[in-house]
Amino acid sequence: VDNSIKISYDTLLVTHDMHIEYAQRLAAEIQKIRAARTTGYDNGYSFVRLPADEMMRREIKKIGQEKKALNPALMIVIGIGGSSVGMEAIFHALYGTEYNRTPQTLLVYVADTVDADYLYLLMSMAESLLKQGENILLFVASKSGTTVETVANFSLFLSLLMRYKKQYQEFVVVATDEHSPLWDSANAEGYACFAIPKMVGGRYSVLSAVGLFPLYMLNGDIDAVCAGAEKMTDLCTTLPELQNNPAALRAAFIYALYEQKYTIHTMFLFGRCLKSVGQWYKQLMGESIGKEYNLEGKRVNCGITPVVSVGSNDLHSVAQLYLAGPYNTATTFVSVAHVEHDMCITHQETQKLLLSYLDGKSVHDIMQTILQATMHAYEKNNRPFMHIELPSLSPYYLGQLLQMHMIEMVYLASLLQVNPFDQPNVEGYKQEMRELLMGKQ
Ligand code: PA5
Repeated sequence: VDNSIKISYDTLLVTHDMHIEYAQRLAAEIQKIRAARTTGYDNGYSFVRLPADEMMRREIKKIGQEKKALNPALMIVIGIGGSSVGMEAIFHALYGTEYNRTPQTLLVYVADTVDADYLYLLMSMAESLLKQGENILLFVASKSGTTVETVANFSLFLSLLMRYKKQYQEFVVVATDEHSPLWDSANAEGYACFAIPKMVGGRYSVLSAVGLFPLYMLNGDIDAVCAGAEKMTDLCTTLPELQNNPAALRAAFIYALYEQKYTIHTMFLFGRCLKSVGQWYKQLMGESIGKEYNLEGKRVNCGITPVVSVGSNDLHSVAQLYLAGPYNTATTFVSVAHVEHDMCITHQETQKLLLSYLDGKSVHDIMQTILQATMHAYEKNNRPFMHIELPSLSPYYLGQLLQMHMIEMVYLASLLQVNPFDQPNVEGYKQEMRELLMGKQ
């Protein structure tokens, strides 16, 4: 489709008959996604309307402007799971994994888990900036407002902030469910606070303030991300042709293979800065379709194990397994057609022998050739794959990619007959942890 990410796949894997059958089976679900665009935030499907929510974006810009005026030198994003992986996916894809190592006016770090050594380093960095009279900003994201890691980390950084800033409230921004304990505390203290729509699940919240506020603080184009996501929602609600509906097509591909015992899915991303998109997808797939019971309450122990691989590095590692091991792994290659910076490998006398077949090629040409060769090897070995190609790594195409995967997961869950929006076993673990911390066991 023009002006959109491109998807290619082996048509033998999702045949014409399958197109017709799956399109019929998905028709009701496609209709629900359509309907959710125009109603309020009143059910799990409502995440699709976030990109069109101009009021939300106005609020992000308003609070963002206020906080930019404080000239923070460091922003610490405090959150875990759905409240941090989406933000990291956007951050790394658009700014690169080495952003903080290059000269920047705003450093950005994520405090997710309770890793004492890492947190010590982060606190030392924050304290050193505060001592120099600089400002820091805490962005705390938690839907429930009760997640242990997030509450612990917020408390650490807040104590630090309070030691250096009398008006510490100005340097805290919160995103949480309305009336969560964090919401109440933000209101009592006077922190700027975004409400995450209650029915939008954590792993579907990347296009809410949870993912967009940090991007705005980085001067990112949040309107372009949302425009891309909107365009993708248009495509993914097209009835009934699967070939024009990228999310339904992908769901059909993954489902058809699952039926043939392909119970592992590798997101094989060509580019270091895309790795976090893979990590985000891992949560989305793992939590959305890894289910003990189906929609009828029957025990099914359904699920596909999501794996993240990075090209070309993992070709020198697990590709041996992917090409030679059991026929149980479906692959999605993700690549970018045009990169922002490229370099040519130039000929030098001394390296003549080494460079004979690289001379004159650019680094990106080589990467593209490696990807082509990999796909040929997959074809030869009858290893099923899809290829997603982004025209470029822009906010617009990233918005398309994220929205496509979220809608795809809803369609996949529908084919598998499981609930894409709950995570009862994660909740179970959280409850046990709370009880242990309270000394009840
Ligand atoms: O998808 C989920 O529900 C979880 O992975 C949550 O995102 C994660 O546990 C963080 O929860 P919260 O945003 O409530 O702090």
